[in-house]
Amino acid sequence: MGESTGSLPFPRWQIAVALGATGVVGLGYWYLRQQSTQSKRNALINNINSVSIEDVQQDPVDESPLQKAQRLKNEGNLHFKKGHYKEAIDMYNKAISECPEGSDSDLSTFYQNRAAAHEQLKEWEIVIEDCSSALKLNVKYEKALYRRAKAYEILKDWENCLDDITAVCLIQGFQNQNALQMADRALKELGKKRASDAMKTRQPQLASKQFIKTYFTSFSQDPVYKFLMKTDEPMGEGELKGFLKAKMLFATEKFDDIIAACTEEINSSESESKYIFESLSLRSAFYMLCGRQQDALDDMNTIINSNDVDEKIKINSIIKRASLYMQRGDIETSLADFQKAAELGPEIADVYHHRGQIYLLMERNNEARDDFDKAVKLNPNFAIAVVQKCYAYYRFALMSQDIELLMKVMEDFRKCTEKFNTCSEAYVLYGQVLAERQEYEQADALYVKAIELEPKNATILVHRGLLHLQWKGTVESAIDLMKQAVKLDNKCEFAYETLATVEVQRGNLVIAIDLFNNAINLARTETEMSHLYSLRDAAVSQLKVTTRLGLGQMLNKMGA
Ligand SMILES: *[C@@H]1O[C@H](CO)[C@@H](O)[C@H](O)[C@H]1NC(C)=O
Ligand SMILES: *[C@@H]1O[C@H](CO)[C@@H](O)[C@H](O)[C@H]1NC(C)=O
Repeated sequence: MGESTGSLPFPRWQIAVALGATGVVGLGYWYLRQQSTQSKRNALINNINSVSIEDVQQDPVDESPLQKAQRLKNEGNLHFKKGHYKEAIDMYNKAISECPEGSDSDLSTFYQNRAAAHEQLKEWEIVIEDCSSALKLNVKYEKALYRRAKAYEILKDWENCLDDITAVCLIQGFQNQNALQMADRALKELGKKRASDAMKTRQPQLASKQFIKTYFTSFSQDPVYKFLMKTDEPMGEGELKGFLKAKMLFATEKFDDIIAACTEEINSSESESKYIFESLSLRSAFYMLCGRQQDALDDMNTIINSNDVDEKIKINSIIKRASLYMQRGDIETSLADFQKAAELGPEIADVYHHRGQIYLLMERNNEARDDFDKAVKLNPNFAIAVVQKCYAYYRFALMSQDIELLMKVMEDFRKCTEKFNTCSEAYVLYGQVLAERQEYEQADALYVKAIELEPKNATILVHRGLLHLQWKGTVESAIDLMKQAVKLDNKCEFAYETLATVEVQRGNLVIAIDLFNNAINLARTETEMSHLYSLRDAAVSQLKVTTRLGLGQMLNKMGA
């Protein structure tokens, strides 16, 4: 959320913090809660990575059939330890065929050990087969699950890898860092793949009206937006066409038809079109707002590469292109664009404002602070920039542990809410900072005020819900607020995602998966979508595995 509205991003780790979770971000926030408990399990868990084969001492005289099988296995282990894997496999083969019926536990060990030997020989398919045989006899056999997960990972079978490693994580209570990291890798790869597939077939969906309006207001010096906002000009005579029609549609919030109207202008023969670049600029913004990044990029490039375009339109397009690159994770190109925009328009506040947000996101707090300084100097009455400057200073003061500055920043925040007392962002950011400082009551009052100012903004309700979670340690009022948010704006991705995350935490996986799917349908960028798929797949896998292993009880304990 946030990355394309021009509003400050709400860092995902804050959701995790609100949920009482720490560490390992990326795997989802679902199971991190009880990380600090159960440390006594650690010894057991460390085992899993070091010991690869099971060893039992046996006396070879007067052996029973089972003892014979065990002896053969032990001989296999001796070969294994010397690095003679083929010989080890021979002995394990014999152990398996000699193993009497009813000795499931031993037999599963033999299979597991044989898998370990095949692993050394990099025979991954056989590793999987042997682990599967071991698991058939002992579904919760951690070593076999872990070994099979590793083989699946090497074969890039991410879905199966995820299920196995999720099982390991669940059995161990999420204590093993190696397993958590593997789960994280599998989730990321799966998410990437699903998002890339989904992008090919998805129907573009336009953002909510509220989101669209906020997006445009985040550019204080976009000449096209200024022109759209001008209502004193006559629209012309007769039926409106092209860009002027788009202007009318914009004014009446009929956003769905704007791209077509712009295209009409752009495609008309040169002589009759006055607003080619305005139309390209507006169309690119709407392409962005419905997640058509490539189409948006094409229009931006047309504007940026043209010589007879108004300089301010060009600079605005460069800023927007920089944000687009950022969304794609191409940081270098993004910053190069911002640099270019700053050279072309050193007096345009929007350049610094938008780059400052990106620096904040990257936690380059010095640069963020400098950029917001410039933005506010150039445009002192742009409320959003002023309050975000406070936020940048807040982060900077925290980073440099400058108490004096911190006190000053808190005072600046307060003044900001007085000076810009109709700007909800001022209340929300101030509230966010107070919540971080555990001044919950004050923060809550600020959110209430922000909601009064912007009763249609669902995001603020979600923020308030998160605050309640952090504050009261109970989920009821938080869930309530988040449900209100979804009701208020059924296109609010942030609300679905956050609610889903809380439901996962409570162990309501089926509900959570449904909510994640809603969020996925609303995601506008591939990056966003892949993140959401990862969260959903984490929940799906957990659901599958708890059912398969009969771990329902355990899960409830964890969600409690
Ligand atoms: C507008 O022109 C482009 C490029 O020439 C073309 O691909 C597109 O189909 C045209 N669109 C309409 C609605 O005429
Ligand atoms: C909702 O309010 C928040 C906080 O003021 C702001 O950052 C965000 O851009 C708003 N969202 C929309 C869609 O207007």
